[in-house]
Amino acid sequence: MGKLFHVLEAQQFSKEWLENEFFPLSLEMEKLVKTGEPELLSKYSLSGKRMVRLFWEPSTGTGFSFDIGMHRLGGAVFASDHAGDTAMIKGEALEDMIRRIAAFGPDVMVLRTPKEGMAKLAAEYSSVPIINAGDGWGQHPTQAGTDLFTVKKEKGGIEGLHYVIAGDLRGRTPRSLAYLVAKFPGIRITFVAPVGDQIGDDVKEYLNRHEVPFKEIIDIMDAAPEGDVFYITRIQKEREKLLRSVERHGLVEAHSPKANWKADQGLLRAIKKDAIIMHPLPHEDEIAPELDPKVCKDRRVAYLRQSENKLYVAMAFLYYAIRK
Ligand code: NCD
Repeated sequence: MGKLFHVLEAQQFSKEWLENEFFPLSLEMEKLVKTGEPELLSKYSLSGKRMVRLFWEPSTGTGFSFDIGMHRLGGAVFASDHAGDTAMIKGEALEDMIRRIAAFGPDVMVLRTPKEGMAKLAAEYSSVPIINAGDGWGQHPTQAGTDLFTVKKEKGGIEGLHYVIAGDLRGRTPRSLAYLVAKFPGIRITFVAPVGDQIGDDVKEYLNRHEVPFKEIIDIMDAAPEGDVFYITRIQKEREKLLRSVERHGLVEAHSPKANWKADQGLLRAIKKDAIIMHPLPHEDEIAPELDPKVCKDRRVAYLRQSENKLYVAMAFLYYAIRK
């Protein structure tokens, strides 16, 4: 089982692998989708292969990027968007469920689980590759792959840039992005978060250990003139409700009113001419309506192109997991 290509956490990937293998493959997948070239289709074909997708949490982009990506490569998809309604609701342990499904012979399983560590646990029991498409507050490595693929395409490179990562930094997308981008030399990170939503100590320890300079602020405007990549995220309120009432009870009226991490025309005016604004989506009002690409033609607003990239990156991950 040691040889399976599991995708579990962002820091498992090296800069070299990303730059030399993964991003070029993702570009090939983009070309395949855009040109439909028969040679590319047959080169990367997953015809006859099966993907099982088990999602315990809601999704739009991630779920469909894997479903449609698998279909584009000629494979079959078996998806449950209510994995909580599967045998687990009857009390079955994840370990048993994974082993039973694996025995039916899928070629890959894509999991979105409600609790940190569940994808890793599944991988310990699975005889087929597991792709972690988000494990609770834990990580979202395929999103981080998409994020850096986007930076590479938009900015020409990832190294040496100043990343401003803003919003609810307890979320899995900023966590995975910080872990992954830390592999690239010369980068620095500014975290912008409301009180109570700051980046976790595990990430900070990792950055310290890898000598990645970072700082924490509460107003994105303070970083505006210097940032290259502005990564905005939404408050994870659906997950937070539960947590707040249990573990975080009494801790603040969350999200300090002074905090500002919104992307609006004011931010756009203040950032560099070649900076970009990203968001893993879905967004709420942390992206102002005036920045919607339908009304705002400024190329620096990159989040819809970033979202499209999820498809190419999902295809590359599927190909790796199944064929490599
Ligand atoms: C993110 C997630 O599920 O963590 N969505 C996604 O997969 N792009 C971000 C979010 O829900 O805020």
